[in-house]
Amino acid sequence: MNSHVPAPVPAAEWWRQAAVYQIYPRSFADATGDGLGDLPGVTSRMGYLAELGIDAIWLSPFYPSALADGGYDVDDYRNVDERLGTLEDFDAMIAAAHAANIKVIADVVPNHSSNRHQWFTAALASAPGSPERARYHFRDGLGENGELPPSDWPSHFGGPAWTRITETTGENAGAPGQWYLHLFAPEQPDLNWDNPEIREDFHTTLRFWADRGVDGFRVDVAHALVKDMAHPLRSKPSLEILVDDGTDVLFDRDEVHEIYAGWRSVLNEYDPPRIAVAEAWVPFTNRRLRYARPTGLGQAFNFDLLQAPFAATEFREIVARCLEEAEVSGASSTWVFSNHDVVRHASRYSLPDGTDAAAQDAWLLSGGREPVADPARGLRRARAATLFMLGLPGSAYLYQGEELGLFEAADLPLESLQDPTWFRTGKTLKGRDGCRVPLPWNAQEEHLGFGGPPWLPQPAWFAEHAVSAQDAAEGSTLQFYRSALAWRRKLQTTESLHWVSAPDAALAHYRRPNGWEVLTNFGTAPTDLPDGLDPARIVVTSGALPVLPGLVPGETTLWFAP
Ligand code: GLC
Repeated sequence: MNSHVPAPVPAAEWWRQAAVYQIYPRSFADATGDGLGDLPGVTSRMGYLAELGIDAIWLSPFYPSALADGGYDVDDYRNVDERLGTLEDFDAMIAAAHAANIKVIADVVPNHSSNRHQWFTAALASAPGSPERARYHFRDGLGENGELPPSDWPSHFGGPAWTRITETTGENAGAPGQWYLHLFAPEQPDLNWDNPEIREDFHTTLRFWADRGVDGFRVDVAHALVKDMAHPLRSKPSLEILVDDGTDVLFDRDEVHEIYAGWRSVLNEYDPPRIAVAEAWVPFTNRRLRYARPTGLGQAFNFDLLQAPFAATEFREIVARCLEEAEVSGASSTWVFSNHDVVRHASRYSLPDGTDAAAQDAWLLSGGREPVADPARGLRRARAATLFMLGLPGSAYLYQGEELGLFEAADLPLESLQDPTWFRTGKTLKGRDGCRVPLPWNAQEEHLGFGGPPWLPQPAWFAEHAVSAQDAAEGSTLQFYRSALAWRRKLQTTESLHWVSAPDAALAHYRRPNGWEVLTNFGTAPTDLPDGLDPARIVVTSGALPVLPGLVPGETTLWFAP
């Protein structure tokens, strides 16, 4: 190994190539024994996270919430749900994280509050046209008696995006009245971002958490805040974004960036500036990169690899495009395969090639039976994809449990399901509970060491994946993640990537200046090791290496140290 030592990363740039671990707090670790993960649970596992070797944690919402949408229905933006702890527990958690050299990213949910937020309660108790209603989008219905929703907009979890209320004041008290907008569940009324009070209040929220030491924010549905609410409301019968010019009715409108310019000023009040990453499901690269500009949020998720088939051509095209995008925006690229909203990648990759979204939904609904999956292959490919991702320039987002090789819990008992998708689609789409099952920590303990009886039941097969079963087991997925993250840290270098020619089904690239090389064979058959890649320099492999000399096994990634 040569003696190159990469230049130290300036403090303000820590995020550019960070490995960020997403914690879904209710499912991570339960210190109080009530069956719901909590902040003391996160604190108690800080040693585990440090050993894993990640740079930051992103916590999904831990705010007071009735859990109509797993905490993305926020009752109070500046507090902790009492079942998850207190603000003091939060402070203790952040102190433990910082002591372990781990940054903390909080989730901020600006598109909608919950229907229990004091603003919404006040809106319901007030008259049409009042300042209380002006914090949300209330409209009169269409039809003779206002009995039809104000527009044809659907909501994300099924059903219309409008719900009619019963008025409580004035001459209409007790009668059906106005409708309010909710792009997600009815318990998630959309906030009116044209209202300066909302803008000001979110600045207060950002400062509240930044003052408590939060290092950054993940911005939920960042592309939806501004809508074209001009009368008459324009038709939009599907939630797809079809235009890339900022004129869509509901999403990715140009005006949204004025909001984030304001946020950027707030984030830059801090030293180092707080970071932000946009969750913006925008299909156009030229539009997505606007969220990632340094004058905006600074980084944006791209879900391109997550949505792509496991194939060399697609992966290469996406990486090249995203790196170009990063160059234009000035941000680093982000990469992700799993999160709390999608089927875990070990399961996605276990389904037959060509399985589309509808077939995947059908598979979930069948309890994971049809089409027949090949879990061994799924995990093999998931590990290969993850090692490929960890070798890319930019930041990598990991989701809790993927380091244990967890699969989607497709076999959850139907009566345990909680995702609004399940209920709002008349129980025809299962939704996201299968990736949110509480983690298995110890195969010998009750509830696999999670804490109390988990709020979603852990399937029996979870025990094999427990941390206790993998901790010291050579070749386990947990050991693989630890070793990959450790080597990534050791070898990390500038954000450049150079492709090396490789056999058809494979991709190879190197990172300079230290010359770290990454090779992935996406095909099923072994392939030749390209010239110049010396097997003696292999430091991490995604799979066991039986290998004949000079051959790379199928569905495998290898890292070569200089
Ligand atoms: C984001 C979250 C998802 C949530 C939705 C509404 O997409 O990731 O979990 O349901 O926003 O807040």
